[in-house]
Amino acid sequence: MELRTPPPTHYTRTAVALHWGIAALVIILIAAGWIMTDMPGSPAKLQVVTWHKWGGITVLALFFVRGLWRLTHPAPPPVAAPVWQQRSAQAMHALLYAMLLLQPLSGWLFSSAAGRQVVYLNLIPLPNLVARNPPLGAVFKELHGAGGTLLAVIIALHALAALKHHFVDRDDTLRRMLRWRAG
Ligand code: HEM
Repeated sequence: MELRTPPPTHYTRTAVALHWGIAALVIILIAAGWIMTDMPGSPAKLQVVTWHKWGGITVLALFFVRGLWRLTHPAPPPVAAPVWQQRSAQAMHALLYAMLLLQPLSGWLFSSAAGRQVVYLNLIPLPNLVARNPPLGAVFKELHGAGGTLLAVIIALHALAALKHHFVDRDDTLRRMLRWRAG
């Protein structure tokens, strides 16, 4: 007789830590991005931009860690919900993941095209993704700015959906991202 392992009911501790760690970092990066673009040119602005770049590269690295973790540690099946809700949740999560990849990349491309190499944590010089090209840099700057706004909107909708599940539907959607199984 074939014995099947039942599907998990919770995420692993690592998955929960990655979810909240990336969420906190991205929210801080969006706020820092908006604040620093309004700052007049100064050493303080340069410092914030440098930290912003390091934080963004960290999100890019964590995107791959999280992807690998997800592939090797399946997520629990979705909580029962109408098909339209499941479909829109899937579409929203796909867009969120895509932006977690594209937003740091557009920032890195912007820095590269502006001719400013990123030295991660002042330790690891990252390659420029494109040669210096200020007009192209201006395009990536626009894309990066629009991406930041889009991410802020998606994160707000994602959080509102989680709160609706918790307080209106009173299901386990939010709770299972707060408690974990071993692993
Ligand atoms: C998830 C990661 C990231 C998020 C959420 C994010 C978000 C933002 C936001 C919201 C802005 C303000 C845009 C505006 O209002 O015009 C911004 C600006 C900027 N970001 Fe990012 N960013 C990320 C990653 C990166 C990375 C990896 C780099 C470079 C390696 C980078 C470089 C910059 C630069 C140079 C600016 C403009 C600073 C200025 O014009 O004064 N960002 N970012």
